[in-house]
Amino acid sequence: QGPCDIYAAGATPCVAAHSTTRALYANYNGPLYQVRRSSDNTTRDIGVLSAGGVANAATQDSFCANTTCLITIIYDQSGRNNRLTQAPPGGFSGPAAGGYDNLAVATAAPITVGGHKAYGVYVAPGTGYRNNATNGVAKGDQPEGMYAIFDGTHYNGGCCFDYGNAETNSRDNGNGTMEAIYFGNIKVWGYGAGNGPWIMADLENGLFSGVNQHYNAGDPSISHRFLTAIIKGEPNHWAIRGGNAQSGSLSTFYNGVRPNVAGYNPMKKEGAIILGIGGDNSVGARGTFYEGVMTSGYPSDATENAVQANIVAAGYATSTGGVQNGTLTPGSAISLRATTPGYTDRYIRHQNDNAVTSVITSSSSTLDKNDATWIVRSGLASSSCVSFESRNYPGDYLRHQNYQLYRQRDDGSSLFAADATFCPQTGKNGQGTSFASYNFPTRFIRHYNNTVYIASNGGSNAFDSATAWNDDVSWVVSQPWA
Ligand code: AHR
Ligand code: AHR
Repeated sequence: QGPCDIYAAGATPCVAAHSTTRALYANYNGPLYQVRRSSDNTTRDIGVLSAGGVANAATQDSFCANTTCLITIIYDQSGRNNRLTQAPPGGFSGPAAGGYDNLAVATAAPITVGGHKAYGVYVAPGTGYRNNATNGVAKGDQPEGMYAIFDGTHYNGGCCFDYGNAETNSRDNGNGTMEAIYFGNIKVWGYGAGNGPWIMADLENGLFSGVNQHYNAGDPSISHRFLTAIIKGEPNHWAIRGGNAQSGSLSTFYNGVRPNVAGYNPMKKEGAIILGIGGDNSVGARGTFYEGVMTSGYPSDATENAVQANIVAAGYATSTGGVQNGTLTPGSAISLRATTPGYTDRYIRHQNDNAVTSVITSSSSTLDKNDATWIVRSGLASSSCVSFESRNYPGDYLRHQNYQLYRQRDDGSSLFAADATFCPQTGKNGQGTSFASYNFPTRFIRHYNNTVYIASNGGSNAFDSATAWNDDVSWVVSQPWA
């Protein structure tokens, strides 16, 4: 059984079923998503290993080898063709051509499901998906349910990392014209206990953590690495639920009447579907999506509890892809060796505060060895990625600025945290590990003329040169020199 078989058995069938990681029906044997590669702009559908099974990530890996892939379509498994594609401009414009939002980098959120490799949808600010012409999604005050699995460690305080029901013209059409799951720690509208992040309902002109407009003590901060998040609504009744997608059961954080604010009862849902953005195409938020559905009808708690059991059984886990022998474990000291032919004796080190590569050998000076040694830290901006603290300048980290890498003191800002966070994945040339920039996910740590940058595969800067890019962005995580 898949989650949508369970919803169907509960008489609240899925009307949209999106996942880049697995089939959501036991019999689903079609494509999960489509990727497009930059080398020749061709596309490829990524299907499942078997009916009802996990994504065939190897199809993506071979199609996207030595190039960059973007996720162009997230198919709808429900049969209603409620697929998600690049979101168009609305109240706000996105950063891509024509005011569209960016597409997600297909390799940016590697994980495993049931031991099989799969990729999630990594939403950096500016990324968004939408469908403004859906079939069967709730309108007006009609009942619906939704769940999604997110990376509970990847969020921010921008508006608005949402999945669910929104306006069909991509504009703010007033209170009650949306009903979507929100995840993050923005406090502009509503918030719950602690410092966040929170699961809230985006009902337009308001993220709601309960019946009150701002604070509701019952909605806890929640940040499981894999997070099950639920919002459901029917006439003058709605609920927030959530839990750990890797174990245990769901908790109910709100279950009651519509907010005590004018305009949300009855609801005026329009039935578009959004992912990663606000209803008016606000594009300030970040997050990661693995799977989610929308139903027709208000699912019972029992149905959702059975879906949660299905999710736990699916076995979401973090990927060790590209990380050798656990050497990227936070706390361990490492050195990073280049793999470009002719440069394989060079390591990333700091020198005069710049990050450069130097030839380091056992007879190098203690200073050089210290400069070429880094302590792996849980990513300053996300614990699903890593940061590199200097061995001999504790409190200083590798960070990029104007795309060049430096050793700098952590100033505690969210910009520094993002600039100093890198997400490991399998080395682009098949050796070692490549490190995607957290806030520029198409850019990877690269050496060029012995200086270290975050570089894209082709681009306007000399250091973005496509020549030797795959080699230059691949690093062997090595025994520490010091
Ligand atoms: O409700 C919060 C946000 O407000 C919506 O997502 C967006 O449409 C508006 O800016
Ligand atoms: O990066 C600071 C120092 O500058 C390094 O330790 C040394 O290599 C250089 O003198």
